[in-house]
Amino acid sequence: MKSLIKKLVETVGPSGYESRIREVVRAEVEKYADEISVDAMGNLIVKKGEKKEGGLKVMLSAHIDEIGVMVTHVDKNGFARFTTIGGVRPHTCYGSRVRFLNGTVGVIGGEMLENANHVHAIEAMYIDVGATSVEDCPVKIGDVAAFDRPFEDLGNRLVSKAMDDRVCAAVLIETLKNVKNSPHELYFVFSTQEEVGLRGATSAAYSIDPDLGIASDVTMTGDTPRGIKMDVALGKGPAIKVKDGGMLADPKVVDAMVQCAQKHEIPYQLEVLLGGTTDAKAMQISRAGMPAGCVSVPTRYVHTPSEMVDINDLNNAVKLLTAFISETIKLE
Ligand code: CO
Ligand code: ZN
Repeated sequence: MKSLIKKLVETVGPSGYESRIREVVRAEVEKYADEISVDAMGNLIVKKGEKKEGGLKVMLSAHIDEIGVMVTHVDKNGFARFTTIGGVRPHTCYGSRVRFLNGTVGVIGGEMLENANHVHAIEAMYIDVGATSVEDCPVKIGDVAAFDRPFEDLGNRLVSKAMDDRVCAAVLIETLKNVKNSPHELYFVFSTQEEVGLRGATSAAYSIDPDLGIASDVTMTGDTPRGIKMDVALGKGPAIKVKDGGMLADPKVVDAMVQCAQKHEIPYQLEVLLGGTTDAKAMQISRAGMPAGCVSVPTRYVHTPSEMVDINDLNNAVKLLTAFISETIKLE
């Protein structure tokens, strides 16, 4: 699991530029798939099994894109101004390093601040790739980069950029490997462009037209000093989403997941997240709508270059999802 996560998080793939990470995932899932396809949005769709007696058509989704930056302008001294791709906050930028698709590494610097304790606005920062002019600058307008940090194994706790949502891609990969004799027709979707508005999952849900949608994504935690008021902690199990900023999970799906966790003695937490949302929202309101829910991985420092997860939560998320989709799902 740890080596799979390292491989996934260290691959560069901001929203809209997921081809590299998609190939990494494809290599992992190929031999477990009945059918595998890539749609126009770049979603990698892995089909497994056929709908049997009492079964449903189930779409599971984890996004493979990550937040990043895009060059808007290179000035005459070779400094690149940038805009953000997804929810990049200014206070995570200054002094960070970014890595472009072409391998170029840059440092984010900023203009002089009147008050050194203030945070630079995005517009007051630039990427310094070591160039001295437009001509010798190895990046140009429209080039994209992701934050650059190595994966660190702290024991139970793991730290890296892009844990959001590559850890859940790893959870789906492991679930796909584990699931046997499911009554359901399963579609494992490794979706694109989630960070810019659930765009990949929106088109995938339309084309697959499932009976039930389940996302897997990271959620925040309330277990840090003077942290947000939230009853989710690292290491206490995957979180079954009840509500987030964009969705009220179907209570029947929540109940079915809770019962499954209890039956199999898998630790779990209930999640009420005030902001943010996941691919489950796109599924829930696709076409005429469908029951939808989400199994979340508690994560500290979401959308910073050092997102922290607990390996036990990941293993238990795999157990929960595997058990959930291996049995008939009562949605009455
Ligand atoms: Co995110
Ligand atoms: Zn995410």
